[in-house]
Amino acid sequence: MEKKMKKFAPIIKDQPYMIYGGDYNPDQWLDRPDILKEDDRLMNLAKINNASVGIFAWKALEPEEGVYTFEWLDETMDRLAANGKKVILATPSGARPAWMDRKYPEVLRVNDGRVKNLHGERHNHCYTSPYYRRKVFEMNQMLAKRYKDHKALGMWHISNEYGGDCHCPLCQQAFRDWLRKKYDNDIDKLNGQWWTGFWSKKYSSFDEIESPAPQGERCIHGLNLDWLRFVTYQTTDFMEQEIKAVKEITPQIPVTTNLMGLYPGLNPWVMAKKMDVISWDNYPRWHTMYSKNWELASDIGFVHDINRCLKHKPFLLMESTPSNVNWQQVNKLKRPGMNILASMQAVAHGSDSVQYFQWRKGRGAAEKFHGAVVDHEGSENTRVFQEAAKLGEMLQKCKDIVGTCNQAKVAVIYDWENRWAIDNMNGLSDRRNYEETCRLHYRALWQKNVTVDVIDMEQDLSGYSLVIAPMLYMQKPGVAKRLQDFVSKGNTLVTTYFTGYVNENDLCFLGGFPGDGLKEVLGIWAEEIDSLYEADSNQMCFSSCLNTEDSKGKLFASMSGKKYAIKDYCEIVHPLENTKVLAVYGEDFYEGTPALTCHTYGEGKAYHICARTDMNMLSDFYQELIAQCEVPVNLLGSYDEGVNVQKRESDGEAYYFIMNFEGKEAKVTLEEDIQLVSVIHETTIPKSFVLKPYEVIIAAQK
Ligand code: GLA
Ligand code: ZN
Repeated sequence: MEKKMKKFAPIIKDQPYMIYGGDYNPDQWLDRPDILKEDDRLMNLAKINNASVGIFAWKALEPEEGVYTFEWLDETMDRLAANGKKVILATPSGARPAWMDRKYPEVLRVNDGRVKNLHGERHNHCYTSPYYRRKVFEMNQMLAKRYKDHKALGMWHISNEYGGDCHCPLCQQAFRDWLRKKYDNDIDKLNGQWWTGFWSKKYSSFDEIESPAPQGERCIHGLNLDWLRFVTYQTTDFMEQEIKAVKEITPQIPVTTNLMGLYPGLNPWVMAKKMDVISWDNYPRWHTMYSKNWELASDIGFVHDINRCLKHKPFLLMESTPSNVNWQQVNKLKRPGMNILASMQAVAHGSDSVQYFQWRKGRGAAEKFHGAVVDHEGSENTRVFQEAAKLGEMLQKCKDIVGTCNQAKVAVIYDWENRWAIDNMNGLSDRRNYEETCRLHYRALWQKNVTVDVIDMEQDLSGYSLVIAPMLYMQKPGVAKRLQDFVSKGNTLVTTYFTGYVNENDLCFLGGFPGDGLKEVLGIWAEEIDSLYEADSNQMCFSSCLNTEDSKGKLFASMSGKKYAIKDYCEIVHPLENTKVLAVYGEDFYEGTPALTCHTYGEGKAYHICARTDMNMLSDFYQELIAQCEVPVNLLGSYDEGVNVQKRESDGEAYYFIMNFEGKEAKVTLEEDIQLVSVIHETTIPKSFVLKPYEVIIAAQK
């Protein structure tokens, strides 16, 4: 892990302030020079300093094969530069002109049912097509050559929201080649890992293998997993070609592509290795009837933290809406204050930008009613514009925060491949909810204002004192060893039911779960796992004489004698020698058997939570662990529900973001003896104050 206390250089050279901008589509307004001129004026009013240009502009750049019309882009770059803006220039591969699809149909994607697309929509090309790869490479190089010395060029926005898969014959061939390489060209090796002796599935040659299909093969879990891995590989390979094209000409210009949060189809940890800067598009459903805003804020914090951890350095919020979107079931307006709050939440978690989709609403087609800074009305006199302008002013005052980091002593492991395997398996119940489970463990810490890293199972664990790995069903090679080292050095590990059941190809471990080296750390073996109906009940009962004292005093005193409700899953485990049982089941044929265990391994401890509980248990449990593991809390104090505190720092500097995610006032009483000054108003922050609905206070420690 990179040492995180130093201040990182600004992501865009010559732009040492918070990047503020968004998707800008002058190519849709070329017949309206008056509007383009007005854009300049309005961008200045809103304190916008950056524009993402050309994202779907292929047709505007090459209207017919070999006919190029870059002049509008030249003018746009010049105009933005003259107006003091930087440009995040996109490669246009996210959408294709019709002439291309007609002449080179191999670029059209084939779906899993083997039906080939017609021309239409976007984000739907074949990632293998040699023609498209060549054509994109050429186009990217033309852009790079043309703008390499342009003052406005700040960064490359490679394509847009890569996603989906293609099952065309070219992709099938590429998949087989990928498998040949993975399994050393040995079909028996593949058969062994995919357990194809089952239902007569053994392959005689790689040529017999087809990607999963609804009317074909779906029940070989190793195949399903490898297909998903291949899709990530092939997409990343496509992206690398795009990057190579621009890097050959502009090696000094950073590249990013906009990721999609928890989108399951691509593993961002693989893609991140090829990107200079991480960026992502964030469209939460604020103000829904299904959850409280602060609960959603915690879920969004989780995703911001993944994006920060992909490189352990500041990332970019590439897209967000200043108000509503147009594709949710109910497209609610962001309430006054929410755009500033949600934007600052991204900054609080490590973003060095706030960017929108989109700058100006288009007149027609699919996104005409999607929120934008400039509405159809066209002036600065709208609620949304005014709030965006206010945010612009605030961001200007946050210049010193650029490049600072969020320092975590706790990590939650949320792993894409593990998610694939859990979604893939048959068994348990329909409430496996891996994602949600990880988010709830995270939430227990978020509610206590603890900075948390969210990482996958392959990451370095040094620097953490507490690692939480909920439902780590898949245990890849090397993971047990890393966890052994981590715990034995005096740190704390938390695992749950459904840990260490299968290897990286979804083959069950023999000899009792968890597999390979993890049993020794956790000090248990899990024999069975029971799935509960919603009407079923059980309890996690803490002993009233917990007898868990160590040098730091009595542990878990706050939980002693308590009973916590259990739902969904109860794993029946056997403690090994020296494993302490902290809680037992309250009911059923496994009543009295362990429900929470603690095992001392080397200098550290490993806890295994055998059953799924509610937030009460997680909250009490992590309160204890924070104290035991000496995990710092961002700003000690008492806060009304809905308030969260994040911290960014670097040597000698610390900034606190105190955020009220609820639509009502919230009381804050700070307990720490430090002097805080408002970054925005430069006034001293009192020890006790009231946050307005959706208010955020950014405070510097003096
Ligand atoms: C995505 C896309 C944008 C736009 C927005 C709408 O993030 O990248 O082009 O379609 O969604 O919310
Ligand atoms: Zn294809």
